[in-house]
Amino acid sequence: MKVLLLNGSPRRGNTRAALEECAGALNECGVETEIVDIGTQAVPGCRACGACHRLGRCVIDDAVNEFAEKLRAADGFIVGAPVYYASPNGSVISFLDRLFFSSRGGFAHKPAAAVAVARRAGTVASFDVLNKYFSISQMPIVTATYWNDVFGQVPGQAAADAEGLQTMRNLARNMAWMLKCIELGRANGLEPPANEHESVTNFIR
Ligand SMILES: Cc1cc2nc3c(=O)[nH]c(=O)nc-3n(C[C@H](O)[C@H](O)[C@H](O)COP(=O)(O)O)c2cc1C
Repeated sequence: MKVLLLNGSPRRGNTRAALEECAGALNECGVETEIVDIGTQAVPGCRACGACHRLGRCVIDDAVNEFAEKLRAADGFIVGAPVYYASPNGSVISFLDRLFFSSRGGFAHKPAAAVAVARRAGTVASFDVLNKYFSISQMPIVTATYWNDVFGQVPGQAAADAEGLQTMRNLARNMAWMLKCIELGRANGLEPPANEHESVTNFIR
């Protein structure tokens, strides 16, 4: 059982610290983890070329495609993003737009969670934005004892946010529990339901 965590910050700072707290608690519950850092390389946005519908992957063959493969093999997903101007930072949005658009439902039924990290404001709005990727993709959203936010400005400050880190640990334990419930269900023949796809109604016909 493995959870993949994406650090959307270009630095190894407070977002990574929040994800490391999650990873530690997941490991204690017997769940394997891997943290992937988005890094400082530019992450191009979606070109809306639609080629991914044919290829099953993004035409921009970079870390997004690599991550998609890892996520298909993983059981759960946690994304952490620093808050920039009261939204998730631009790189993480570009990354997730392309990851989810090119994977077209390939992550369905994997539990997922979002974490937002800020100096002071914008975490709840960012949390909302990040959860939208999951709620359109049939990914059960794992929650905790507060909205998943951690506060800090310069790297290292997240360590002082005791409640934020407690939320991360509770989130991780809830995710481990959900993963085990799903595994138990599967072992007893309980598979996810099939979807209907016949009706797609655009406004302009
Ligand atoms: C371009 C930019 C915009 C930011 N905007 C906000 C903001 O809207 N609200 C806030 O509380 N902090 C804001 N911050 C501070 C970061 O969210 C904060 O430093 C956070 O800890 C960064 O996470 P990291 O250490 O993982 O990079 C901003 C930082 C940058 C670089």
